[in-house]
Amino acid sequence: MAVSNPHSARLRRIPFGFRGLSLVALILSACVAAFTPEPASAQPTGDTWWKHAVVYEIYPRSFQDSNGDGIGDLNGITSRLSYLQGIGVDTIWIAPMYPSPQIDFGYDISDYTAVDPQYGTVADMEHLVAEGKKHNIRVVLDMVLNHTSDKHQWFLDSASSRTNPRHDWYVWNDGIPADSPGVNDFQKKYVHTNLAGAQVVPPNNWESLFGGSAWEWVPAVHQFYYHKFYKQQPDLNWSNPVVEKACFDAMRFWLDRGIAGFRLDAIPTLFEDKQLRSEPVLAGTNAQGDPNLQEIYTTNLPEVHDVIRRMRKMANSYAGDRVLIGETYLPNTAELNKWYGGEAKDELQLPMDFLVGFHGDHDKLNASSFRQRIEEVQTQVHGSQPLFVFDNHDNVRSIDRYGDGVHNDLISKVLHTVLLTSNATALTYYGAELGMPTTTPTRKEDVKDPIGITGWPLEKGRDGERTPMQWTAGPQAGFSTNPKTWLPIPASYKTINVAVESKDPNSELNWFKQLAILRQTNPALHDGKQTLLDTSNPDVLSYVRSTGTGPAVVVSMNFTSTPKTISLDLSGTGIAGATVKTLAADDASLKSVHSLKNITLPPYTSWVATVQ
Ligand code: BGC
Repeated sequence: MAVSNPHSARLRRIPFGFRGLSLVALILSACVAAFTPEPASAQPTGDTWWKHAVVYEIYPRSFQDSNGDGIGDLNGITSRLSYLQGIGVDTIWIAPMYPSPQIDFGYDISDYTAVDPQYGTVADMEHLVAEGKKHNIRVVLDMVLNHTSDKHQWFLDSASSRTNPRHDWYVWNDGIPADSPGVNDFQKKYVHTNLAGAQVVPPNNWESLFGGSAWEWVPAVHQFYYHKFYKQQPDLNWSNPVVEKACFDAMRFWLDRGIAGFRLDAIPTLFEDKQLRSEPVLAGTNAQGDPNLQEIYTTNLPEVHDVIRRMRKMANSYAGDRVLIGETYLPNTAELNKWYGGEAKDELQLPMDFLVGFHGDHDKLNASSFRQRIEEVQTQVHGSQPLFVFDNHDNVRSIDRYGDGVHNDLISKVLHTVLLTSNATALTYYGAELGMPTTTPTRKEDVKDPIGITGWPLEKGRDGERTPMQWTAGPQAGFSTNPKTWLPIPASYKTINVAVESKDPNSELNWFKQLAILRQTNPALHDGKQTLLDTSNPDVLSYVRSTGTGPAVVVSMNFTSTPKTISLDLSGTGIAGATVKTLAADDASLKSVHSLKNITLPPYTSWVATVQ
């Protein structure tokens, strides 16, 4: 199995030269606003809520500032719950809001059972959960288990002496003599003198994903500690059962406060090779100037699955079907299947499937490749529930990755159609519903994300996808009353914002809302079995959803820049019915389609119709 650095795929910056211009004005006259149903008001019950969820990731610094300090906060999120409910969101995942030195903007946690004062208090979180309930919105928290901050008391104790009871909570190593056979030039850059006065280097060539050696020397203990990410993020030692207990206790703290589950950060990196073998070196260097490695000894090690099974049992001991979502960048569906627990289905309910939303080949649209990946996850995970995702806080936004610079808005609507009409759980990211573009800093001195500073200009960091939410065309886009926001407001806020798009029936926002609410209210889209149609068509992706009792729903998307004519054949699917009625379409011509034969889809259009 070739695991070629799945994490660097996540952090890879895909070059793009054309920002997502809003084409709303251009397509306005051609578009059709099909009916916009109202959001469901009752909290869905039953043990599979997460199968139908529309999960919305919130980067708390950037969503809504309620106290005028230029940084978003929990009360800001609470104040926007009505908006979220109104667009069909029923679950929010909040990126880390725990106390943190903010080296990695919260992914360096210094206390798992508190809230960073800049975001609020534990009481504010409890209030958010309670208000969420009233809005039919569940709250999922981010849980970072691979590492803590180097300012966490656990690490301060661990690094204070070799005899401290917490020393073994992290991954320590004495290093090896600098003249040992096999030591390479990369290791030789990190020479230290040990207690015996000998020169030592890191025990192997392991690299931090954020640049340099993954081993950092601590003079107080004359040892190196391992860190997969920044050196301020030491890796916990998951081979020590006490670590597992401490982390599970932290998770219980929040489960006891009514949160619906966790998104597990960087979860495949929990374990490292016990023999500390060097990773195979590949050709070339990465954006940080370090040799490319094939990460086979520091990610996706089998030991992690025992932990996940125990974690699942722990989460299952709570009522309400708490969910475990994994940040699982994996090379193929067979690997993804393992994260569900395979046939036993006793691990994560929702490991993220990045294969559909993060295509290679410059991530251009390709109907055949989408179909193949959708089919794989339909057929190769023992009927477990897929989770699709196109956007997050670590990657160039999908509108820019998939956009061609001319039809970005339509292409983004196609992606939303895949996300919201397929049978996968949908995971989106704030601003994606607006078609907010990536706004990467243009000057090194403006960069906030440390990897953008060390990697400039090859790696400009992740600020571009973390800019403040665009609510209005007013001051600071309605994000904050403070003119000094933590990242600047992108110029696009004048036209790409909630206020403007809410009024435009053909906007990206209304497309998202229409589909998300159809997914809640239409039984076939909510729960129907999915069958791929017209499967040799290289240009148009089509499928049908059916519960077997009520009317089925067909979905077709033209993935190309030219009109395409299709005919859909339902024979063999067991679905009867010949009359077709459009439920949603982003071109007026598709409103009048009444048959499954000879339907012409204009460039990059999406069409959703009921069959009766
Ligand atoms: C998060 C990143 C973070 C890294 C280290 C990732 O998976 O999504 O934002 O920098 O983990 O915690």
